[in-house]
Amino acid sequence: MHHFRYTGPNLHCESVDLAEVARLYGTPTYVYSAATMADNVTRLQRGLDGLDVQICYAMKANSNIAVLRHFANLGAAFDLVSGGELRRVLVAGADVKRSVFAGVGKTEAEIKLALENEIFSFHVESEPELARLNHVAGKLGVKAPIAIRINPDVDAHTHAKITTGKSDNKFGIPLKFAAAAYEAAAKYPNLLLKGVQMHIGSQLTEIGPFVEAVEKVAPLAAELKTKFGITYFSVGGGIGIVYKDALASGPQSWWDEQPAGSRPITPEVYGAALVPLLQPLGLKILLEPGRFMVGNAGVLLARVEHLKRGAGKNFLIVDAAMNDLVRPAMYDSYHEIVPLHRDSSRRALVADVVGPICESGDCFAKDRQLQDLGEGELLAFMSAGAYGYAMASRYNSRAMPAEVLVRGSAFELINARESFEQMIAGEKIPAFLK
Ligand code: LLP
Repeated sequence: MHHFRYTGPNLHCESVDLAEVARLYGTPTYVYSAATMADNVTRLQRGLDGLDVQICYAMKANSNIAVLRHFANLGAAFDLVSGGELRRVLVAGADVKRSVFAGVGKTEAEIKLALENEIFSFHVESEPELARLNHVAGKLGVKAPIAIRINPDVDAHTHAKITTGKSDNKFGIPLKFAAAAYEAAAKYPNLLLKGVQMHIGSQLTEIGPFVEAVEKVAPLAAELKTKFGITYFSVGGGIGIVYKDALASGPQSWWDEQPAGSRPITPEVYGAALVPLLQPLGLKILLEPGRFMVGNAGVLLARVEHLKRGAGKNFLIVDAAMNDLVRPAMYDSYHEIVPLHRDSSRRALVADVVGPICESGDCFAKDRQLQDLGEGELLAFMSAGAYGYAMASRYNSRAMPAEVLVRGSAFELINARESFEQMIAGEKIPAFLK
């Protein structure tokens, strides 16, 4: 469910006309709905009622400091993966002490920064990492709180690039070596065994793999609680969102109309399947949702540059490109594309929607049926709140796009479009070329 809908012919985010945002701040611009993010938190908490839950928002999905502050105000902590992300949490005035630090290659400097800021726990991915954590904690005279990430070897049935819980992925320690890894960890004087963790992949649309993974890891969690007194089990993130019918899936009624069985995962379905498995453990349950929290809460606004009518093919060339939203080029992902001004009297247009970047991969959609659109008209890429801006780049020397946050009828720029001067600020011509 989300708060993007047409009011009359114009697409709104909450009470804000998106054309007004485009007029004020230009395009391409990401726009986020604060109410949608808040609803996502509430629904997740409600779905998991009965558990002692700590939501650690996977901030890699969208790490704008305004988004972080909003989630912090809603009671969430963070799942972070770099020193940069940790510093963003601090700048947002949010809580590192309830946040977790994941990733397969944390540097000594990053570990030190996290320990100095009293991170809740490190999610450890390998045995060499245990030694490094022990070493850095020893130098600081503190104990490093840890959970080991278990790789349960479960197929998440998602895109190969975002599946993480198979034995041939680089993540975690195989279940069969987990007991030995905890024994090894317990011998380090500067480590504190605090929990156990898993994460099997992203954009999961079926509940089965979650259930299978929790069923595999739960007995280990119980054993670790008895043996080492661990206090939490992090079940990771991964809940998928709706991409194909993104706009339609705004109101509750759409969800009610979906035939049972083909309905995408909801927090209610997720909770109903997992609470009975997790409750008996008597552990705190950490969740690390990224996409679910922000994915449907954001759109990318773009403007049409040209409609190029080719032989047997039309190209709608827009001013957003793969540098702004890389997901279609990188994962062949689908983003619904809708006009900001809907006009049912217009004929349909079938076109490839492409950006101006000089490679064929700069394509958002192939043979997409749209309303006929022309130069200067505005459109929105739906479900772009997660892994949109966060994965944007400056390829082709295109500036980083702007970001705007909406709440009710209020909206504010939360990240100004990058200027050319900012783009090249760190560059210089060396003396030997002058
Ligand atoms: N926890 C861990 C350890 C993770 O590696 C991830 C995501 C998450 C939580 C959050 O997963 P989520 O709830 O967002 O599915 N760039 C890709 C997605 C990469 C996900 C990486 N890890 C995309 O645009 O689809």
